[in-house]
Amino acid sequence: MLPKPFLILMTGLSLAATAAAAAPADKQPWMNRALNPDARADLVLARMTRAEKLSLVVGTSHLPADGRIGFAGYVPGVPRLGIPPLRETDAELGVAIPPQHDGIRPEDEATALPSGLATAASWDPAIAFANGAMIGEEARRKGFNVLLAGAVNLARDPRTGRNFEYAGEDPLLAGTMVGAAIKGVESRHVISTVKHFALNDQETNRTRADARIDPAALRESDLLAFEIAIERGRPGAVMCSYNLVDGVHACENGTLLDQVLRRQWHFPGWVMSDWGAVHSTVQAARAGLDQESGADWDSRVYFGEPLNVALAEGEVPAARLDTMAHRILRTMFALGVIDDPPRVRPLAVAADAREAQRAEEAGIVLLRNQGNLLPLSPTLRRIAVIGGHADVGVLSGGGSSQVIPLGGPGLRIEFADEESSVPDVMNFDPSSPVRAIARAAPRARVTFDDGHDPEAAAASARGADVAIVFATQWQIEGADAGTLALPDHQDALIAAVAAANPHTIVVLESGGPVTMPWRDQVGAIVEAWYPGQRGGAAIANVLFGAVDPSGRLPLTFPASVDQLPRPEIPGREVAWNATFSINYGEGAAVGYKWFDAKQLTPLYPFGFGLSYTTFRYTGLHATGGKTVTARFTVTNTGKRAGADVAQLYATVPTASGAMRRLVGWTKVALAPSESRSVGIAVDPRLLANFDVAHERWEIVPGAYRIELATSARDPRLQATVRIAGQTLPP
Ligand code: BGC
Repeated sequence: MLPKPFLILMTGLSLAATAAAAAPADKQPWMNRALNPDARADLVLARMTRAEKLSLVVGTSHLPADGRIGFAGYVPGVPRLGIPPLRETDAELGVAIPPQHDGIRPEDEATALPSGLATAASWDPAIAFANGAMIGEEARRKGFNVLLAGAVNLARDPRTGRNFEYAGEDPLLAGTMVGAAIKGVESRHVISTVKHFALNDQETNRTRADARIDPAALRESDLLAFEIAIERGRPGAVMCSYNLVDGVHACENGTLLDQVLRRQWHFPGWVMSDWGAVHSTVQAARAGLDQESGADWDSRVYFGEPLNVALAEGEVPAARLDTMAHRILRTMFALGVIDDPPRVRPLAVAADAREAQRAEEAGIVLLRNQGNLLPLSPTLRRIAVIGGHADVGVLSGGGSSQVIPLGGPGLRIEFADEESSVPDVMNFDPSSPVRAIARAAPRARVTFDDGHDPEAAAASARGADVAIVFATQWQIEGADAGTLALPDHQDALIAAVAAANPHTIVVLESGGPVTMPWRDQVGAIVEAWYPGQRGGAAIANVLFGAVDPSGRLPLTFPASVDQLPRPEIPGREVAWNATFSINYGEGAAVGYKWFDAKQLTPLYPFGFGLSYTTFRYTGLHATGGKTVTARFTVTNTGKRAGADVAQLYATVPTASGAMRRLVGWTKVALAPSESRSVGIAVDPRLLANFDVAHERWEIVPGAYRIELATSARDPRLQATVRIAGQTLPP
């Protein structure tokens, strides 16, 4: 991946002073908080010069003249009118400040959350909200007022290099979780984006990939995830993506930016480009791009002076610049970054680390547990831990979302990058599973073998009460995994250890799904994703049962790449200057819907995850009419406390046949023998098909099958309801 230019960091005491040069309210009437944000924006806009408006619509990733902190992007404010600069940082897994040329400095560090897939696997919007609020607060305390968060691209391919940042394959789950995270960020008066709009669903040659898809299917899949995230989170900005959609770059795509986002969704915020995603002045401005971000990443600056010329020559309507500036300013007023600017102060380190641990504990998925091998007893005498650098920490994903964790990385492994002189770095967060396991089993002799030599590892496992293998799959922005197999001969390592010890547990730290040729040889499998700042402690708590595993898969684990719509990742072998098409022929049948349509058996289905206790569903009562409402009872039938994710699926008639969709879920924490009656009301769009010609959702009247299930492949109760034919606004 291409590195960001090295950014210079400086510490600041208070940014409040730079934000709003205090002026009496009668001189700056837009500072009157009683006015609505649009009125305030109009008042200040009326006082701005053309040059000031133009400067608001171009961002840079260079050090600003008054720069005191590191950033991903910077947009100068209008100090004479009390408008602060936009100080932008990545992103959704913690405040991500890239290392500087003088190395890692303590002020670059932030609390590292587990990956987006881990949070999505919690199926708990409250966790996503708390994560967002935590990052928002840390961003604020570091002096930022914009977080480039809210990544909600659908996992159309399990190998995609940024899936770990996203929230899985289902539009309802992803949109709900990411929407909650955005709301959390903005609760701290920091603007959040939602990104990358749209169809940036693979990383391989992402800037030259032309995504082709049926437009109705797009509305029912990727765009539905964005629509739900925007409705729930109300992000201040939408970041358009690197790729092309239907032959047109996303940042100059009028269908996406104007027709859908503005006219159909009435989005009031601004559209900013991804860094290096702008390719024109007139077309981008006319299509709906409001701000060129990181313009130093584009082949040249397209807004700024070129926009000035295009406005003067009438190629871009004169009012367009006011609209761009209005959208930015109204958002700054609406989200409080002017009234309540960031103040630099120390982070709430302990509380934030607890949040990171809680998020990981809620997102760990137990995939296999033969003979109740887990939870482990604290009285074990010999535990062999193997591989994954588990002595020092837990793996994290690479790219712009990379957080430098508090305390500095536990381990950094550098790799040469073909495209750049700066190496890619694999970072481990400093939370050692070995130490956490030793704390959980105080009487045990805990050994560690690095796993490089399978025979030595097997020898260390032989005779131990249990062997725990940590297996890692590293993913980084800008590249996709070439395969679903674990790298570096880890399959052979696991097989060798499993042959030596019947009580072998595999803990996966992966960016997404991997294949498991050894599945039937091992006793237990735990998917820990990228576990974050306190990952070691969270994993040990699940292994030893202090926490019940309540995560469920937010995406399908295929048995092999042959089951995927595109076994070969498109665009691997294209010339450096050529665009290439990705034919998303599966349309809206993403993930489990594809597996249903093709009647394929996955390795583990969407929604799947075990618990240390058992649950039963009874009394499903579903009613129809305009939409589905369902009521049922969940009972914990086991002996331990635990949380269940009860999932509701509906089979919907579509142009390409019946499609089963997740239409709701509820996560219920229950004590042993406890029962709770819960209800789910279905968003009617999930029962509908999108009618492109009439720009509306349409529900076909008829009888719909409803299933209450523990995963996409395990329905427990069923009902049929009659749904009325109807149309819904776009
Ligand atoms: C990424 C964005 C990120 C931006 C700024 C881009 O390369 O795609 O997700 O927010 O850089 O760092």
